[in-house]
Amino acid sequence: EKGGFDHFMLKEIFEQPRAIRDTFRGRLLTDEAIVKMSGVEDNMKKFLNADRIIVVACGTSWHAGLVSEYIFEDLARIPVEVEYASEFRYRNPVITEKDVVIAISQSGETADTLAAIKLAKSKGAFVFGVCNVVGSSIARETDAGAYTHAGPEIGVASTKAFTTQITVLTLMALRLARAKGTISSSDFRRYLIELELIPEKVKKALESDAYVKTIADIYKNAKNFLYLGRGFNFPVALEGALKLKEISYIHAEGYPAAEMKHGPIALIDEQMPVAVIATKKGHYEKVVSNIQEIKSRKGKIIGIVTEGDKTVKDLADHVIEVPETEEFLTPLLTTIPLQLLSYHIAVMLDKNVDQPRNLAKSVTVE
Ligand code: F6R
Repeated sequence: EKGGFDHFMLKEIFEQPRAIRDTFRGRLLTDEAIVKMSGVEDNMKKFLNADRIIVVACGTSWHAGLVSEYIFEDLARIPVEVEYASEFRYRNPVITEKDVVIAISQSGETADTLAAIKLAKSKGAFVFGVCNVVGSSIARETDAGAYTHAGPEIGVASTKAFTTQITVLTLMALRLARAKGTISSSDFRRYLIELELIPEKVKKALESDAYVKTIADIYKNAKNFLYLGRGFNFPVALEGALKLKEISYIHAEGYPAAEMKHGPIALIDEQMPVAVIATKKGHYEKVVSNIQEIKSRKGKIIGIVTEGDKTVKDLADHVIEVPETEEFLTPLLTTIPLQLLSYHIAVMLDKNVDQPRNLAKSVTVE
């Protein structure tokens, strides 16, 4: 049942090329230069007339929502707000009929997300669901939606659900960008081709596994970890930190790289491993100067870089390479080594990777 892997989590990490391809199936029609999503087509007017999109979700799904904020705004020029479902529902939020709410949930059963949906619907908003579990409560409660088709996720720590959620949201952003004319048809075509290459590139990113394991061995006894990223990869830093906390019980924080100087830099000393996402494009020079700041304070740097990178390689203690792609697609690749890092550390610390303490796969209490 674990397909030869020691844990469901590892199986699910390695399933991602297949899972992402399943998310594309019937939707990404590169030859015809079409993105086909019936839930979006059928409600195109609502999306095009929306003043803004409000994303509601929890945990890892909230991180996928944050990635989508950058993508929707960049490609489709639609303002996006991303809300923790639990905060949104309890604060008398301003919602109107002109809002589109996107609820993201792997299980489709998260109580706070479900309650946020009910609240948004009662105020007249159009609610679109991005769920993995077919026929789940959230899938049923939403006005329309798109499934991620990741297949069952058994490991409590969410992995393939995250990358397939980002894939669905990216397809939506591309479809809406095309409808709005906010990207040219040549860019649109180029992006579809690049998106189609992502499963192969995820596969390449997975080849870092053995090397990531050696890094895990070096830092497995650290008391704290810091994760930094900017732009599209800021939410990936948050997600990297969450994965480590959940399964290895090591304290970790994710931060936008530029915020480091406003406080967290005080934490850095020779005991502090810092994972920095520093792919080419994406404010690369700025991230490099953030890395220099860490280095001069003796922090240990684990760089997640684009294949062939030299600058970060010279500065960092370790670099993990991922293939080059369009900037907005980099989260689908940079996430992979961070999933592997937390997995290997948890295994080395002898933790229950698939069923970490205090956690449940779906949180049906409010
Ligand atoms: C993280 C994790 C949780 C869930 C969160 C939302 O690995 O598993 O943070 O992401 O409980 O769950 P869903 O997506 O089912 O609504």
